[in-house]
Amino acid sequence: ASNETVTTTEDGIRRRDFLDVAAIGAAGVGGLAVVYPLVSQMAPSKDVLAASTTEVDVSAIQPGQAIKAVFRKQPLFVRRLTPAEVAEANSAPLSAMRDPQTLEERTKEGHNDMLVTMGVCTHLGCVPLGAAEGEVKGEFGGYFCPCHGSHYDTAGRIRKGPAPTNLEVPEYEFTSDTVIQVG
Ligand code: FES
Repeated sequence: ASNETVTTTEDGIRRRDFLDVAAIGAAGVGGLAVVYPLVSQMAPSKDVLAASTTEVDVSAIQPGQAIKAVFRKQPLFVRRLTPAEVAEANSAPLSAMRDPQTLEERTKEGHNDMLVTMGVCTHLGCVPLGAAEGEVKGEFGGYFCPCHGSHYDTAGRIRKGPAPTNLEVPEYEFTSDTVIQVG
């Protein structure tokens, strides 16, 4: 008989929970605001982290300026080239490069002046300088890795020093003229 009583109580609680959930659902956007903090407290799995994306508003980046963001817990550099830097990057001799790639191949059509790369040196993983105000940009005006002296140009291509390949360009797309989504 006592078992029956417990069962009845549990059912009663379940029904009440259902009613609460229905009430939150009926609150619409307010309901989402209540549910979201609960979800965000759960530790994300590795799969979730790997699948995560980063949005960057590029509208405030002036020509010749770069900013640092974070993508999947690693530094991400977003740089707007000046017209002179675009011209220079397009005229640099590919045959002399260790990892020959054109600026066009490393950027999106219609946005050749916007360079998006990981801020991770391809030698041993240091964070190169040149993405923040006042940081040394190296011999080719792009990024400079102080760990062992790798110089990347304004297209993020390795031009001098021990790094074997260009700075990695992650998968990304322009979701509007001023916003990129990385990942
Ligand atoms: Fe950048 Fe070695 S880690 S040059």
